[in-house]
Amino acid sequence: MPAVKVKKSEAEQAKKVLKRAGIYDGKRRPKRDGEDILLPITDSKKVQNLGFEVVDIELPLRPERQIYKNLESILKDKFTKEELEFLRRYDVIGDIAIIQIPPEIEHREKEIVDALLKVHPFLKVIAKKGFHKGVFRVRDYTIIWGENRLTTVHKENGVEIKVDLSKVFFNPRMKGERYRLAQLVKDGERILLMFAGILPYALVIARYKAAEITAVELNKDAVRLGLENIELNKKNLKGSIRVIQGDVFDAVPKLGTFDRVISPTPKGVDALRLALEKSEKWVHYYDFVHEDKIEEFKRRIISECRELGKECNVKIKKVSDFKPHVFKVCADIELL
Ligand SMILES: C[S@@+](CC[C@H](N)C(=O)[O-])C[C@H]1O[C@@H](n2cnc3c(N)ncnc32)[C@H](O)[C@@H]1O
Repeated sequence: MPAVKVKKSEAEQAKKVLKRAGIYDGKRRPKRDGEDILLPITDSKKVQNLGFEVVDIELPLRPERQIYKNLESILKDKFTKEELEFLRRYDVIGDIAIIQIPPEIEHREKEIVDALLKVHPFLKVIAKKGFHKGVFRVRDYTIIWGENRLTTVHKENGVEIKVDLSKVFFNPRMKGERYRLAQLVKDGERILLMFAGILPYALVIARYKAAEITAVELNKDAVRLGLENIELNKKNLKGSIRVIQGDVFDAVPKLGTFDRVISPTPKGVDALRLALEKSEKWVHYYDFVHEDKIEEFKRRIISECRELGKECNVKIKKVSDFKPHVFKVCADIELL
């Protein structure tokens, strides 16, 4: 098999050139040869114009797992497009994969598990996801492979988040939103975080900004994990986080006002008025809205502000699909 021989110090640059020419063989491993490196290629003719020394050598294939980049590439010939559409929407939380498997293909669970393990060889647990339940928004899970646990430590945005999926809500897909909000915050801000959960928003904001965050959460297990998470990240936090265990609708009215209020509102709860009342400048209010009702939602925010004697600018951002035509949105509200 062909490979090019280059000085070790030139290997990275040569690899780039070969990749650009479309002849780098990613399925095989490069090999050290004294002061040189042998880089695997797929085509010895095409390399001739590039001026590399070509040798013929058997380079080892990479383990299969390193070749597969995603689940679809493994399952695309075995499942229909619609089935793949479902399967590709899985989440990885720490070393746990969470997947939804439609009933029609439940009997093919093993194939799906094997494919997930090829893409993510570090997984220790694979669980099927059910629906969110109750006010704490905890999901039902069935473990289908691996260790019998739903606790793990998830890393995102430079923080570590201890999670117990059997007791608390956690959504790794909000990673981008958490980073976005952290970038909007200025050092020194006083922030109220309602429905704070295990503190993913608070931790990411405090990681980047010297803000003073007050977090309110009802679920005792989430509060306990949240406090553990503060401890886990304390060396890396610029900001401070105070946690209040209690009902937002009892605890928040007793607090003063804040520069910014963030409400990752649970489905079916309306805390808009409270969030607007408690902010002096910014509100980020999450809700689930049908695409036809987005303008109506915006008008409602403006009118609630006016009832409080405030004017505002409102921008509504679609954050994720919730179900057909219904989006999770974030209203970024600037109080004037
Ligand atoms: C959608 S989750 C968001 C959690 C967290 N902010 C996150 O993004 O992971 C909503 C959270 O609100 C909490 N919750 C529900 N009703 C509450 C209430 N009345 N007062 C305080 N927390 C509440 C739930 O326990 C849950 O942790």
